[in-house]
Amino acid sequence: MTNIMEAQNVKLSYGKFEALHGISLNFPEKQLTALIGPSGCGKSTFLRCLNRMNDDIDNINITGKILLEGKDIYRAKLDLVALRKKVGMVFQQPTPFPFPVYDNVAYGLRVAGVKDKQLIDQRVEESLKQAAIWDETKDNLQRNAQEFSGGQQQRICIARALAVRPEVVLLDEPTSALDPISSAEIEETLMGLKKKYTFIMVTHNLQQASRVSDQVAFLMDGELIESGPTEQMFLAPKKEITSNYLNGRFG
Ligand SMILES: Nc1ncnc2c1ncn2[C@@H]1O[C@H](COP(=O)(O)OP(=O)(O)O)[C@@H](O)[C@H]1O
Ligand SMILES: [Mg+2]
Repeated sequence: MTNIMEAQNVKLSYGKFEALHGISLNFPEKQLTALIGPSGCGKSTFLRCLNRMNDDIDNINITGKILLEGKDIYRAKLDLVALRKKVGMVFQQPTPFPFPVYDNVAYGLRVAGVKDKQLIDQRVEESLKQAAIWDETKDNLQRNAQEFSGGQQQRICIARALAVRPEVVLLDEPTSALDPISSAEIEETLMGLKKKYTFIMVTHNLQQASRVSDQVAFLMDGELIESGPTEQMFLAPKKEITSNYLNGRFG
């Protein structure tokens, strides 16, 4: 199994506060990795490191290595636009831009300089289909994306992330702002896409992690406590503290 990304001893400080204490974790290609752990343990911080979303924060210091297809994404002269095309992101709150569905999904391609209308049309349709939102939008592609329901908006955001054909998609609690039915739809969408993309998803919903992920990584206080195949993590975790967390004894 190939690892598309590898984090090696990643430490991150916000000023004097060290939020990540040296995280090493591999991300197998075309699998879904769930990052779990109590609130404030560093899940979002770590996720944001994976496409350098933390770069613009003042007084931040990041050490260690993060490899994408074997190359360090923190190397000098890295092209950030190219990186974010390869490593896309979906946030907790659906964040469609206040313009038509079509333009939302076409956005990344246009930023990348694609002008071929036919190619964009085709990619928009394909991406909306992949994100399981085509049937609900195909007759309304010119409607403002923000007028759709929360769950629909989130699937539009997933389509937008997929439109540039990323290698990896990062998701930070993508269903926690949604109702149970919309959440289930997003989960199904992700399961259907696992063969095509690599997903790295923060979730505080343990049932969700057990349903959709192939690998689970458990973080606490900025440390990676343990990681492993989902079944093994839930059925036979190596550490007592993991077992306590998974059984709802804290967090
Ligand atoms: N921009 C920031 N500046 C300073 N501290 C931050 C910042 N973002 C997060 N933190 C701190 O880093 C720790 C980890 O936060 P976060 O990654 O958001 O945790 P999680 O996503 O697991 O809830 C917390 O103690 C949080 O307060
Ligand atoms: Mg978070």
